Amino acid sequence: MNNLLSGKRGIIFGALDENSIAWKVALKAKEQGASFVLTNAPVALRMGEINKLAEHCGTIVIQADATSIEDLEKLIQQSTEHLGGKLDFVLHSIGMSPNVRKGKTYTDLNYEWYLKTLDISALSFHKLLQTLKKQDALNEWASVLALTYIAAQKAFPGYGDMADAKATLESIVRSFGYYYGTDKKVRINSISQSPTKTTAGSGIKGFNEFFGFAENMSPLGNAPAEDCANYCITLFSDFTKYVTMQNLYHDGGFSNMGVSEMMMKKLEGDS
Ligand SMILES: NC(=O)c1ccc[n+]([C@@H]2O[C@H](COP(=O)([O-])OP(=O)(O)OC[C@H]3O[C@@H](n4cnc5c(N)ncnc54)[C@H](O)[C@@H]3O)[C@@H](O)[C@H]2O)c1
Repeated sequence: MNNLLSGKRGIIFGALDENSIAWKVALKAKEQGASFVLTNAPVALRMGEINKLAEHCGTIVIQADATSIEDLEKLIQQSTEHLGGKLDFVLHSIGMSPNVRKGKTYTDLNYEWYLKTLDISALSFHKLLQTLKKQDALNEWASVLALTYIAAQKAFPGYGDMADAKATLESIVRSFGYYYGTDKKVRINSISQSPTKTTAGSGIKGFNEFFGFAENMSPLGNAPAEDCANYCITLFSDFTKYVTMQNLYHDGGFSNMGVSEMMMKKLEGDS
């Protein structure tokens, strides 16, 4: 299917390298006729990879720390100027926990870092939505998406304080979805994605086991990043206009499983 996003303008947060989910969304959005601005934190821009993506997509990169209101204000203003009008879609593909990164377990958290985890991975979504709303930067029926993980609903030990951040993020999807939907018909959703081999994903302790477990438990297997990008495109398109305030699982069926025969066979082998 072609030109699902023809004439639409957007901002894509979180493309770090070619493994990033946001990177794949940018490629698909371009393929589907959208125009957009890429953004990431200063430290990610220093890596330089994102410039290659911008060149390929014929667009620009605007630096913004998603926890800084000032950066968000400038980003949104400059993006609407560059793109020549209000926005139709925004992707928030951001996650980082200093505690997880530095090996702090959930029962031995550094609280300053915990606040950082929440600020970067959850509150940034509220800050983004509030800034968009104050600037009236979104068109009616615009679609805003965040990426999340099932550790918001169920216990996954290695995920640490990111679980709390994701639970908050999903709550913001519902709460802001109400206000923005009522005022401006803007829709807000989160996609709960399978474990995916990216920089953020691989930072989780025991990620490979996590990945293998989900693969064995999901009837369709783990959902690849590229298919996640396809799902994002459908949610930015006009074919999903009345979907809002939802947490949508993109996980090969994992979230509705108890146990699988494949997993039982593996355990049989172990006993
Ligand atoms: N990889 C997985 O297994 C998986 C599973 C479910 C959900 N997710 C979610 O998908 C999203 C994207 O992650 P990914 O897997 O593509 O990994 P990634 O590491 O490629 O992307 C994470 C991005 O967050 C950006 N970021 C960090 N701090 C920031 C800040 N202060 N301001 C702006 N940007 C900042 C990073 O620069 C990076 O581009 C995250 O929300 C992640 O939690 C990932």
